[in-house]
Amino acid sequence: MNIRSVFQAAHPVETHDSFAADVIAGLTAQPKNLPPKYFYDLAGSALFERITELPEYYPTRCEIAILRDHAAAIAAMFPPGAALIEFGSGSSRKARILLDAAATVAAYVPVDISGDFLQQELVQLERDLPHLVVAPLVADFTKPFAVPDELAALPRVGFFPGSTIGNFEPAEAGAFLRHTSDMLGAAGLLLVGLDLVKDEATLYRAYNDAAGVTAKFNLNLLARTNRELGADFDLSAFEHRAFYNAAQRRIEMHLVSMKRQRVRINGIDIGFGRGETIHTENSYKYTVESFLTLARNAGWTPAKVFSDGLFAVHALMNLRSGIQQSGPQ
Ligand code: SAH
Ligand code: AVI
Repeated sequence: MNIRSVFQAAHPVETHDSFAADVIAGLTAQPKNLPPKYFYDLAGSALFERITELPEYYPTRCEIAILRDHAAAIAAMFPPGAALIEFGSGSSRKARILLDAAATVAAYVPVDISGDFLQQELVQLERDLPHLVVAPLVADFTKPFAVPDELAALPRVGFFPGSTIGNFEPAEAGAFLRHTSDMLGAAGLLLVGLDLVKDEATLYRAYNDAAGVTAKFNLNLLARTNRELGADFDLSAFEHRAFYNAAQRRIEMHLVSMKRQRVRINGIDIGFGRGETIHTENSYKYTVESFLTLARNAGWTPAKVFSDGLFAVHALMNLRSGIQQSGPQ
């Protein structure tokens, strides 16, 4: 197939108005919260890339090692001539490992809400993957989006690495798995990367790095609100807080107001008490078994699990799929 690139937006993704409405809704709710998808403007995506290099943030290194060690076995599950669709592709670093191993893949569809970052990564992707159709899509993957018409007939492999599924509430993760099963269709295969429940100290360190990059990533939500909505958040008056909520098996990230203060956003005044927090992210941790249950309940048939004990990559088959099933390992 010829080199061809289609850079398109699936639907109005993040407009000024929807960002403003979500920020006002979140900051007038009790407790205050902001949706984590807004972390990812160009600055936020670059900060996330720095997080993946931190000594404390093990998930990226673990997942890359798992994918490298098992690339051939994973690629052997791909239907021939498939389109590899990555949900929340970021730098596409992990997809490259699969694309190197799966010679028959015909197209790569990186899907991300961070349009400027996707555009920036596209240059290198096209250079590195000259034999593939690369069809990037700026979309919110929680909403339905269409694969470009030219690729519609190809069998589909979904790739959702990074434990990004952990940023959903478990019920949302189930709903995502169900609608992905419809989207990937018969013979569909879905690969999901998951951070596993582990000792609290390791989890705590991963979200409280010594260099303060995760704090910057968290505070970028307020910086972005200032940049795009003309808000007047004083970033020095908020602090990053992340901790493991063992009962819910999740890391919670918050921004803590260090004093009583008011912030003006889009003509609206929002009051903060001293110590009041904005809940900005949950990062759920699963056991292999708890995720298998979630996947089965969403209609997927678990095919294989590749894990190093800290992180797991699940291969799931669509129940309608004709791929040979083998028990989870
Ligand atoms: N897949 C990469 C990046 C993970 S970071 C990796 O494993 O390292 C999460 C990615 O998902 C970011 O690139 C972010 O922009 C994207 N993202 C977050 N919420 C999204 C949403 N609702 N729709 C589409 N992309 C989203
Ligand atoms: C993208 N996501 C899976 C990351 C996580 O670990 O929940 C985002 C992140 N938040 C803080 N550090 C990294």
